[in-house]
Amino acid sequence: KHEVKCLSIIVLGASGDLAKKKTFPALFHLFQQGFLQENDVHIFGYARTKLSDDDLRERIRGYLSHKSSSGQTEVLSRFLQLIKYVSGSYDSEDGFQLLNKEISEHEISKNSQPGTSRRLFYLALPPSVYPSVCRMIRRYCMNQSDLGGWTRIVVEKPFGKDLKSAEDLSAQLGELFDEQQLYRIDHYLGKELVQNLLVVRFANRFFLPLWNRDNIDNIQIVFREDFGTEGRGGYFDEYGIIRDIIQNHLLQVLCLVAMEKPVSLKPEHIRDEKVKVLQSVLPIKLEEVVLGQYEGYKDDPTVSDSSNTPTFATVILRIDNERWEGVPFILKAGKALNSRKAEIRVQFKDVPGDIFKCKKQGRNELVIRLQPSEAMYMKLTVKKPGLEMSTIQSELDLSYGLRYQNVKIPEAYERLILDTIRGDQQHFVRRDELRVAWEIFTPLLHRIDAGQLKPISYKPGSRGPAEADELLAKAGYVQTHGY
Ligand code: BG6
Repeated sequence: KHEVKCLSIIVLGASGDLAKKKTFPALFHLFQQGFLQENDVHIFGYARTKLSDDDLRERIRGYLSHKSSSGQTEVLSRFLQLIKYVSGSYDSEDGFQLLNKEISEHEISKNSQPGTSRRLFYLALPPSVYPSVCRMIRRYCMNQSDLGGWTRIVVEKPFGKDLKSAEDLSAQLGELFDEQQLYRIDHYLGKELVQNLLVVRFANRFFLPLWNRDNIDNIQIVFREDFGTEGRGGYFDEYGIIRDIIQNHLLQVLCLVAMEKPVSLKPEHIRDEKVKVLQSVLPIKLEEVVLGQYEGYKDDPTVSDSSNTPTFATVILRIDNERWEGVPFILKAGKALNSRKAEIRVQFKDVPGDIFKCKKQGRNELVIRLQPSEAMYMKLTVKKPGLEMSTIQSELDLSYGLRYQNVKIPEAYERLILDTIRGDQQHFVRRDELRVAWEIFTPLLHRIDAGQLKPISYKPGSRGPAEADELLAKAGYVQTHGY
């Protein structure tokens, strides 16, 4: 009788950058593919800026039509018609009452019983306003789950700056919403090859016996960007590369690479295993950290002249459990480097008894490239084709662009928003997971903040400080040579 039919998606911070670049495009792609139906969905933008519905629509159209191919104008216009705009501040009772009125009117127009519809609040906002916005939603915009409706809140990092501030934020949100209502996005969990990690590890016989300290020498999880912090200097200078990339995106990837097999694919079973592996991470040793800052970073007027903020970091994490003791997990991230790439490199140990004398050519490696051009390949030694009996390093290569030519790989945000609508929390960060992630990095971050650790300067467009390569070599990584 209380059938849930109607879906309202409310984008708070609708006039901002994240909404324009990520949230609305993701919603549009879901609409294009039929996941959001016109007779079911309504989208509300909320922000402080005074805009009309059409102003917001035109902003979104401007961004999307420049991105999407021609022939989509008609679909885009239909999508834009679903969007309404409400203006108000983030702590204004009137604003949220008005928002609630608009949503309720829409629900009634869809013949939905009050309270029975679905409301998804997407906070494309700076975290400083999360508590007040959440309080307002809680007070004025909730749906009653006992009538079959639901209210879900999507939030995005930075979730605090260290353990204490993150815990404070969690406690504030936790007073207002149940954990089942909170969706903490880490968009790396929405990437195709990140979602593939558990499948590759646990559905393939040949990885199962090899995935441990007996066979694996070291694992690298690397993020590089070939551009600096242009336009985001103010935000970045406060956070730095460890909070921006390593403590969240790379650590999430580490969890999926290192965790034990979950009891089942239920979100809670998966997240239980992620928490366990994080709890096994040993305190970071300062001699296993290299920080860098690219030359010219401080030229940005929004960055302080005396900034100590790293734009590059290599940090080795060690997991103290039966599977991983002694295997370094090398997390590396940097801005303004020589390429844009995110990949995982699992390097195996040398083959004992080197009868081909090929050890110098390099080791077996499994490389999982998250972007660009998704791929998985295994570096292996083979006989060099020809009359000679000699060996070379080659690859078993699964490049997605070649193998799955007709498949469009979805954007991370698209997938994660769909998960939120479906109520699947598997690819979202649980509160206890977040806490342990902060526990791991907070002591190091406090030292950096106190100026006790200085970043080494590196040239934009380079590989980062040479000291990072030295640390890698010390950790046991051996460069392989393809042909
Ligand atoms: C964001 C960071 O979370 O991820 C940015 O704040 C970074 O600094 C971005 O550029 C990278 O995301 P992607 O999907 O392009 O690798």
